Amino acid sequence: MSEMAFTKPLLKGDRVERARLYKAPGEQMFGFQVACKTISDGIAASKLAKEGGAQFLDINCGCPIYEATRRGMGSAMLRKPRALAKMVAGIAADSELPVTVKIRLGENDKKIVVDTVVDYLHRAGAAAVTVHGRTAEQRYKKAADWAKVGEVARSTAMPIIGNGDILTHYEAHARRVESGCTAVMAGRGALIKPWIFQEYKEGREWLPTTDERVGVYRLLVSYMKEHFGDDERGRKKAWYFFPWHFDFLNRYRPLPEAVYGAASREHPLIMTRMDLTDARVGEAGPEGLGWAERLLRCEHPDAHEAIAAALWDAGSDADAVTALERIGREGVEAWEEAVRAGGRGGDAARGGGLGVGGPAGAEGEGREGGGRGGRGGRGSRNDDAELERG
Ligand SMILES: Cc1cc2nc3c(=O)[nH]c(=O)nc-3n(C[C@H](O)[C@H](O)[C@H](O)COP(=O)(O)O)c2cc1C
Repeated sequence: MSEMAFTKPLLKGDRVERARLYKAPGEQMFGFQVACKTISDGIAASKLAKEGGAQFLDINCGCPIYEATRRGMGSAMLRKPRALAKMVAGIAADSELPVTVKIRLGENDKKIVVDTVVDYLHRAGAAAVTVHGRTAEQRYKKAADWAKVGEVARSTAMPIIGNGDILTHYEAHARRVESGCTAVMAGRGALIKPWIFQEYKEGREWLPTTDERVGVYRLLVSYMKEHFGDDERGRKKAWYFFPWHFDFLNRYRPLPEAVYGAASREHPLIMTRMDLTDARVGEAGPEGLGWAERLLRCEHPDAHEAIAAALWDAGSDADAVTALERIGREGVEAWEEAVRAGGRGGDAARGGGLGVGGPAGAEGEGREGGGRGGRGGRGSRNDDAELERG
């Protein structure tokens, strides 16, 4: 979320000539991310990325999940900053694309290595580094440390993309300006509100109605049908992601800056536990919401399954709204009750909030990399257990 110029070293070392890759105002850039631990894998990924039309290659050195770290990839790369820099230098030297790197502050509070890593990566020829302001061990428990992200951004000439807890365009703007970062990145915020980029670009909030949100979700369905196929096989593949996505989409709440701007400066909104409805934005209570809206805010995985099916099967946006209203009328109260009773099939610990954590603080946050583990079942505690182990 910014106007930025990536640089790509043509040669290794300090006397590099840098080819600039500009992102013009309003232009979108497409990057390709990979987790790797060897130069040859990185270069192979870069070739594939280039063939696929990517404009930069990003190396994931922040992922804390066990699947990555047990192979020495993701945040495990932060254990050896010199080796990480050597790998990035090797990839950057032979990659036709600029190479960026995504990192966390360190593995844990006692091993904050971000300053060293950023310095090394700059010298290695990274075009930019995204810094997620938490340690690998923290998961999502505490708010991201933007003071540290800002300190890092101000200490280097390399573009730093700050990351952590951005849910609204006004938080994105404030974080970028206050931290001195070249850009900011939204993770969960983009899963909850896929239109956050539009809001940022336009510098104003969009508080979509239920029907408008259904339109957005149906647009996602159309992309999935286009990508996976509009048949049973395509649906099966899409189901790896689509119902799961509602574990994030259900957390959407209208957060006008006039009401929440001040609170967001005290505590990130994504980390704040929210009720189902909010009198401050004119909501009277659950009964005041339409059935479809109430269903879309429901945390129960069975609701997510039903929503996904209704959106996929509907012939039009209007049909989808009608189907959601019916499903909400018939089932949402029981699902809400099951959530209150802690009988949620997935992450009961998450509770009713915009984010995880919040005051109550649950550590996991779905499954990094997305999807349901290919087991055909719903997201389960196992997914979070993987995060915990990592
Ligand atoms: C479901 C999920 C999947 C993620 N997958 C990736 C990934 O593939 N690569 C990556 O660099 N970060 C991944 N992340 C981490 C986010 O990019 C981001 O660093 C993190 O969520 C903190 O930002 P946020 O507070 O804006 O969510 C993932 C996060 C979540 C919740």
